[in-house]
Amino acid sequence: MVKQYLLLGAALLAQTASCLKILMAGDSTMAQNSLATKQGWGTPFAEYMNVTVVNLARGGRSARSYTREGLFASLVAQITPGDYVIIEFGHNDGGNPSTYDTASVYGSDNSTKTVTLSDGTVEVVQTFVTYEKNMANDVLAAGGVPILSSQTPNGDSWNDAKTEISYPPRFVGYAEIAASQTGSVFMNHWSWVAIAYGHLGYDNVYPKLFPGDHTHTNPEGADVVARAFVNGLRCTNHPLAGMLTAAGEEIPMVCS
Ligand SMILES: *[C@@H]1O[C@H](CO)[C@@H](O)[C@H](O)[C@H]1NC(C)=O
Ligand SMILES: *[C@@H]1O[C@H](CO)[C@@H](O)[C@H](O)[C@H]1NC(C)=O
Repeated sequence: MVKQYLLLGAALLAQTASCLKILMAGDSTMAQNSLATKQGWGTPFAEYMNVTVVNLARGGRSARSYTREGLFASLVAQITPGDYVIIEFGHNDGGNPSTYDTASVYGSDNSTKTVTLSDGTVEVVQTFVTYEKNMANDVLAAGGVPILSSQTPNGDSWNDAKTEISYPPRFVGYAEIAASQTGSVFMNHWSWVAIAYGHLGYDNVYPKLFPGDHTHTNPEGADVVARAFVNGLRCTNHPLAGMLTAAGEEIPMVCS
């Protein structure tokens, strides 16, 4: 009798887990790409998760432009309570907000700057932290679970001795601030990828995994980056680490 209840319980749990989705917001380093030499990590990531992965990343976007263009609002409209939302920006977020329509206001507070876009529209630009906090709060309001993930390192971002990935951009720290100020999980993807690249070594990373430029990985590199995210889920005991496919379970845990 007890066993039957347990089996029923397990069946219900499996059902719930299979209904969950993971929605992904990000830039080209996450987005699906059809080029043979360029792929975003969201594509191989789907193979490691035993839940539906909806990769809504778009090339060229930043926290600011993904918000301004309504892309995040349309992601939020797809949330069913219990869904996870991975939010990862930073590659397109730097620069002067008056000149670049993807750049956010410098700093981590609630400062704003009013700018006029090339089409004449006036936009009140926020800091990266404000955009990420707004996204996390929108996910929470829709019953979802936000994961604020830090951007991936560039392939050539090594220390002088080329022994380790170095110089995390300020957006890594900004994502952590936004997570702590919204009570969200911070996934330091930058750091998990840095660990993976460190074990591979400079010569196996750059330019091997970055044939086109220092930002974009080929499919093999995207796989390293996706596996690093799964590794991070497992090393931090995140609930998603319990929803891996057999291929995901096979990824060795390397927590430092
Ligand atoms: C911005 O932050 C400052 C300092 O924390 C606070 O005093 C102020 O009320 C905030 N302004 C807005 C509009 O949230
Ligand atoms: C997903 O999980 C179910 C239930 O545990 C399992 O039967 C199935 O083989 C898994 N799928 C993959 C691709 O690992």
